[in-house]
Amino acid sequence: MSNRFNAWKEKQILFVSGKGGVGKSLVAAGLAHDLAKAGKRVLLAEIGETSYYKDFWNLPSIGHEPVRHPDGFDIALWSGETSLREYVLFYLKMERLYSLFFENKVMRSLVNVAPGLSEIAILGKITSGIRKVGPPLPYDTIIVDSFATGHALALLQAPKGMMEAIKFGPMGHHSREMDKAIKDPKLTGYIVVTLLEELPVTESLEFNQTLKTELGVQVDVVANKILEMPVALTEIDQIANGQGEPAPDLQEFSRYLEKTERRQEKYMQTLKESGVDVVTVPLIFSSEPKVLVQATGEALRNG
Ligand SMILES: Nc1ncnc2c1ncn2[C@@H]1O[C@H](COP(=O)(O)OP(=O)(O)OP(=O)(O)O)[C@@H](O)[C@H]1O
Ligand SMILES: [Mg+2]
Repeated sequence: MSNRFNAWKEKQILFVSGKGGVGKSLVAAGLAHDLAKAGKRVLLAEIGETSYYKDFWNLPSIGHEPVRHPDGFDIALWSGETSLREYVLFYLKMERLYSLFFENKVMRSLVNVAPGLSEIAILGKITSGIRKVGPPLPYDTIIVDSFATGHALALLQAPKGMMEAIKFGPMGHHSREMDKAIKDPKLTGYIVVTLLEELPVTESLEFNQTLKTELGVQVDVVANKILEMPVALTEIDQIANGQGEPAPDLQEFSRYLEKTERRQEKYMQTLKESGVDVVTVPLIFSSEPKVLVQATGEALRNG
């Protein structure tokens, strides 16, 4: 079992972020799968308005209340609106206030644009178990399939903004507690998923740097979709030698593999030089959710 997996196993919250499309949701799913297999009570929390996992696993529905996945973990979808609604109803016990403000179209659009309000509500929900407030969340680990890096930073910086705007009362208090929870490395872990390509690697290292400066935490990197060479390049030469001139397609494929290998090595080096821990996940040759999740979980577990 890898060092990183063992460390992730001890966290109560794991944020998974990264550039758009790099594999955040699959890595979060693989982690949920293997942490549940290791005996942890796991919630895989999607944030935002729409569920990715509903279609991915062909589940009947995913909403604010957790539902069970056949593989032994729960899934929920938390949006700014559902989290804020719960906050107002549960903590402030103001049903009338809620309907007055939030059932009203104009107010609802205001809430959606009020800076940081949606983020603070979502982060409030994610950290509510740690802060021992709100409805019980009976989990050892909440894995957050989080926003892409830019928006994830806004999410994680929301408490600071709120603390500066509102110093007193319950909102000020809750924001301070949230800030404390996400800065505590014993409670919260950060994983950034990347491809071994220039733009995602640059973005991941910037994310790491900002989190270090702003929250004083370190991120772990998952290098995803690593092409493991199917054949050694010398084998291609051998195949070619046995058959005279190598076919042009084969030559091209060989060059492509060589280039890919060099690019992967280069960006792996860049990551390592910046001092982050890197776990690799191979490119999986399947589109079957079960195969994808299992193989990803296994790679994360074995490091
Ligand atoms: N290691 C892998 N091997 C093969 N396919 C993968 C791998 N990782 C991710 N994929 C596939 O790549 C696509 C993008 O992955 P995913 O949806 O997890 O990315 P994401 O970062 O969550 O995207 P978004 O930014 O849209 O939320 C999906 O079809 C997923 O199944
Ligand atoms: Mg996703």
